[in-house]
Amino acid sequence: MYHSKISGLGYYVPENVVTNDDLSKIMDTNDAWIQERTGIKERRHVVRGEDTTTSMGVKAAEIAIQRANIAKEDIDFVIFATLSPDYYFPGPGVLVQRDLGLRTVGALDVRNQCSGFVYALSIADQYIKTGMYKNILIIGSEVHSTGLDMTDRGRGVSVIFGDGAGAAVLSREEDVTKGILSTHLHSEGQHAEELALIAPGMGKRWITDVIADNDPNDESYYPYMNGQFVFKNAVVRFSEVINEGLQANNLQVSDINMLVPHQANLRISQFIQQKFQLSDDQVYNNIMNYGNTTAASIPIALTEAWEKGKIKSGDLVVLAAFGSGFTWGSAIIRW
Ligand code: UT7
Repeated sequence: MYHSKISGLGYYVPENVVTNDDLSKIMDTNDAWIQERTGIKERRHVVRGEDTTTSMGVKAAEIAIQRANIAKEDIDFVIFATLSPDYYFPGPGVLVQRDLGLRTVGALDVRNQCSGFVYALSIADQYIKTGMYKNILIIGSEVHSTGLDMTDRGRGVSVIFGDGAGAAVLSREEDVTKGILSTHLHSEGQHAEELALIAPGMGKRWITDVIADNDPNDESYYPYMNGQFVFKNAVVRFSEVINEGLQANNLQVSDINMLVPHQANLRISQFIQQKFQLSDDQVYNNIMNYGNTTAASIPIALTEAWEKGKIKSGDLVVLAAFGSGFTWGSAIIRW
């Protein structure tokens, strides 16, 4: 058995910065509320005709591949995590295979929302451990802004989410004391509708019903979130899954050099930091600048932390995520 390691990281965010004050001009919100409840100061929104979930993912991937010091021909598999694909089908995995000019390698789409990147990392890790693949490209990318309800009605959700992409190359590591030590994945579908976008779906409400109704007040195409309920579950599950990962490796909280939590809400990250008694240097947050970018948030934050020299060889890095599904997970990495 081999281990897998992160050999390259990259991220891309659209240039268009949208501040809280910008949002307060189009809906009944304000900078003080947003910062107090979420810590967010600004986020990026795509400009029509410029970026898509796939194109941002490709840009992040190009940086990650270059930093991994491999050629595109060396990529054996692609895993793309998103809740905001360019098309309903096919998913963005094959679009990346095309747009990056990769060999006809397999391309898998992951539908696990905020936990998408951790799920993708876990899948890639298993393929590398068994020796099936040597280099796997993982992408988390989201365009939220084009699908949000930017009216007073949607303010509880739309101020939180932002657009962006992050990517990692996972490569074979011969030294089994290094790389991904373990990953831990969970779900609780009982709460599926507490954070969801119901349409377009092929479930109880058919596309033909939606078209026949032609209802301008149909909210099923906008994301719904029971914010307080999600918040309460998030803090519990984040803590559980971090502990689970540490225990599986006989590690203590004091062994953590860097925790990169999914950037859901700065208050959630701060709650976890306080609970585990970690210092500011041991937790990386950038939600202030990008909002919640769902599957992209961990790879963007991880890349930034690495670029700033906050992650060094030998460090214990913990990734943790929670979100729609509910799904949650962690990854314990010896850098
Ligand atoms: O990444 C996926 C996982 N997602 C999360 O982890 C999100 C978890 N939840 C949260 O982060 C928080 O619940 C929110 C930030 C979404 C909301 O904060 P909250 O403290 O739970 O606020 P609330 O929804 O209970 O709303 C409080 C008040 C309400 O007004 P009233 O009823 O007290 O008069 C809302 O209408 O704030 C109002 N409100 C706003 N006011 C100004 C809601 N959204 C806004 C807004 N601006 N954007």
